[in-house]
Order: sequence, then C-alpha cells, then structure tokens
Amino acid sequence: GTGAVTPGRGDGGPAPRRATIAARTLRTDRWWVQPLVTVVVLVLFIAYSSFRAFQNAYYHAEPYISPFYSPCITTRCEGDSFPEFFTGPAWISPALYILVLPLGIRLTCYYYRKAYYRSFWLSPPACAVAEPHRRYTGETRLPLVGQNVHRYFLYAALVFNVILFYEAVRGFRDETGEWGHMGLGTLVLLVNAVLLFLYSISCHSCRHIVGGRLNDFSEHPLRYRAWTWVSRLNARHMQYAWTSLFAVAFADFYVLLLATDTIQDVRFF
Ligand code: FES
Repeated sequence: GTGAVTPGRGDGGPAPRRATIAARTLRTDRWWVQPLVTVVVLVLFIAYSSFRAFQNAYYHAEPYISPFYSPCITTRCEGDSFPEFFTGPAWISPALYILVLPLGIRLTCYYYRKAYYRSFWLSPPACAVAEPHRRYTGETRLPLVGQNVHRYFLYAALVFNVILFYEAVRGFRDETGEWGHMGLGTLVLLVNAVLLFLYSISCHSCRHIVGGRLNDFSEHPLRYRAWTWVSRLNARHMQYAWTSLFAVAFADFYVLLLATDTIQDVRFF
C-alpha cells in the first residue's frame, strides 16, 4: 500500500473514481449471509474455547489430552508427557501459557483476516457493498501493521503440529502405557493433528517460504515442485482453516466428555 487513501464515503456517496450511485449496493442476492455466519461461528468458537481454556479441569483422560492444553508445560498438568518447565500459581490454567500461539496464527492468518475484516469490521462486508468507514489505511499502521508477524506464528504452529502428532500417537497406548490400543479418541486426536498440519502447510507464509524469493524456478527444481504442491493446498486454505477449527474444538469436547465420565471411549482394539 502507499498509505492512506479515501476510496469512498461508505454510504454509497460520491468519491473520486467512483460512479455516483446513491444505493449502498446494487447487489440483490443475500450477500450478508456469509459475514453473518462467520460472526456467529467465530463467536461460538471463541466463547467455547475461552471457557475451556480458563476451566483448568477435564482436559485429560488417559491416554488423551485436549489440544487446548497441549503442550502442557507446567508441573500442575495432568496426564501429558511433555517436559514441564515450571509450577506457576494454581489458579492459572496451563492452557493460558500456550494459548497466545494458536490464537496468534488464527488472528493474523491471511484467510481469517479477510473473514473478520468483512464480518466484524464490515470493511467491506462483501464484494461490491460499500463499507461504513470513511477512511481506509489498509494494514499500513498500528495495530494492523502488526499482522506482518504472521510468519513467526507459523513457525510456532509447525512446532505445535509436531507436539500434537506426538500426543496423538500416545493415544495408541492404553491407560497402563501398553502399545496396541486404539480408541475413537485416538482417531479424533489424529484427525485433529492432520487437519491442523494441513492448515499450517497450506498457509500463505508457508508458500512464500517454500517458493518465494526465487527469480528462476528452473534453477530450483525441488523447490519448484514443493511450491507447486503447497500451492495446491494453499488454494484450499480456507477449507483447512474451518475444518481444523471444528476439529480442534471437537477433539477438546471429546476429551471433556471422557474426563467428566459422560461417555466411555469407543475401543477398536
Ligand atoms: Fe492462514 Fe498463514 S495464511 S495460517
């Protein structure tokens, strides 16, 4: 961007380079459905995940641990195998120490930015619908210029991906630590780990890391092939964003049901 521009008055009023159309939009379809659904789903997810992160209980049912509490880095953690670094006050939920990283990647994600700029900020609410704001500075100023840190959240997410796979593989052991177990919980954690991994590697920053800054693909055949592959996943980044969001909430919910003895795990073997 080149700094502040003033594209329009947002009420459909006159502006340079814009036709003088009084209506806010000429769209006649239900363009508001998509932003509305986005707000409802994200608010529900934020409410549920905040409740669970602060709850500080029912996040472990051997051999499973909720992804909201993984990695669990305090000595107060129940049931995970991750190295524990410190104790910390009992009233601070172990989820809160790590929450900033998964929260950070979603908040600065290029896809979610599109989704919440449209749905929460109405900036603009949909294509060809004027926004209510008078000024537009893009992401050139604080706080939005901070979205540039996205790539660092991606690095952290890749580390989390490894940990979540590790915890999912632990699900192939039973309560006594014997290998050869597989329950529905094992599958739930595994699917969650896979979808979160797909979300990470389909990331726009990942695509740039893999194939960006090259002037000549023919001199970098391996990176070109990897870039082609990541590009294909990248085209589905939105789908991975939503499916992994549902998967992580469901995985946590499944552990909650087990930990509160509401249901028993289904055991395949
Ligand atoms: Fe969505 Fe990077 S663009 S995670």
